[in-house]
Amino acid sequence: MKIVVGITGGIAAYKVPELVRLLKKAGHEVRCAATEHALEFVTRVTLETVSGAPLYSDLFASGRTEHISLKDWGEMLVVAPATANIIGKVASGIADDALSTLLLAFSGKPVVMAPAMNCEMWAHPSVQRNVDTLKSWGIHMVGPEDGELACGVSGTGRMAEPEAIAQCVRLLSQPTEPLAGQRWLVTAGPTYERIDSVRFIGNYSSGKMGFALAQALADEGADVELVSGPTSLNLVHPHVRVTRVESAREMYDVATKVFPTCRGAILSAAVADYRPSECADHKLKKNGSEGMHLELVQNPDILATLGQAKNASQTLVGFALETDNEEANAQHKLEKKNLDFIVLNSLRDKGAGFGVDTNKVTIIARDGRHKESPLMSKQEVARLIINTVTT
Ligand code: CTP
Repeated sequence: MKIVVGITGGIAAYKVPELVRLLKKAGHEVRCAATEHALEFVTRVTLETVSGAPLYSDLFASGRTEHISLKDWGEMLVVAPATANIIGKVASGIADDALSTLLLAFSGKPVVMAPAMNCEMWAHPSVQRNVDTLKSWGIHMVGPEDGELACGVSGTGRMAEPEAIAQCVRLLSQPTEPLAGQRWLVTAGPTYERIDSVRFIGNYSSGKMGFALAQALADEGADVELVSGPTSLNLVHPHVRVTRVESAREMYDVATKVFPTCRGAILSAAVADYRPSECADHKLKKNGSEGMHLELVQNPDILATLGQAKNASQTLVGFALETDNEEANAQHKLEKKNLDFIVLNSLRDKGAGFGVDTNKVTIIARDGRHKESPLMSKQEVARLIINTVTT
């Protein structure tokens, strides 16, 4: 991040080179802007050396307009130390030097101030009122702290330590996670329906799409319950809990239990619609030259069950794999199962569907809106789906 460090005239200015060093160490680019008085406490050479950039201080004197380019360059402005004077100027809209001008022009981006002054000045109603005003405009205050002050007395007024200011910058510069605090359920992979102790009915689903969806949700900050049928895939992410299941009924049990606590669910598993009515507990033997008949019974429909259970604040997304009349069938499935979105998988396009790393989908919303993707990696398709169904 590009950070402007503004320095005003307080004794704590001598700690600013350490702050600049910490910010640089954290990977930020830093430029310093100092008031005239600040340079009585810390030198231009020191600030230019630690920041690795020219210092901005005498803009009006030289008639230049760096305060404007600095306002465009900077993504965050940190004022340390912030004297009662600069706090008062900003609160009153006064711009009579480079730093105060920059502060007034620096709109729409985070500003952090680390006040430092004598404790009686800090306690003065006018300073407190100005601080409250600045806070109400969204300016972040770090400190001041209690302790011994330069004037020899103890009280509240010491500038927060450089580490504390750098920590505040760290928190503010972290990208916000739009799905933080939301729990999402994802189903993935095939299901295996046992015939006997060594055989099953299954399908070719690799689970790649579902795992990519779980990853994309977690990357946006969501807590993900990933319920997966048998796959060779793995996903280790602090926000993802993987539950492995084998059959449709096991997937049904986990999904229906978890769903009530979720903000939404995306069911991408290729669930077997049928299972053998009986599962032998031993390996079935060949029966001479006669054929073999398997009786199949229907599995519960997880998606339809969640569609019936869902409340108004939950979002339910299903997948459809159609070969004829694709969009009309998908739209019909969306309505029948009470979904908010259905993702239509293309089987006609080379590179899309089971097993491969790419996919091409059409996302259909309940109101009939369509969004078609080009052939993309499953990770990109996952991000497109997540962006569409979570906004
Ligand atoms: N699905 C499910 N539980 C099932 C069957 C399907 O949760 N027992 C989900 C899939 O995860 C997918 C969607 O339903 O999100 C689409 O499944 P699909 O098999 O295409 O639809 P069906 O409703 O089974 O309809 P049909 O087979 O008649 O096309």
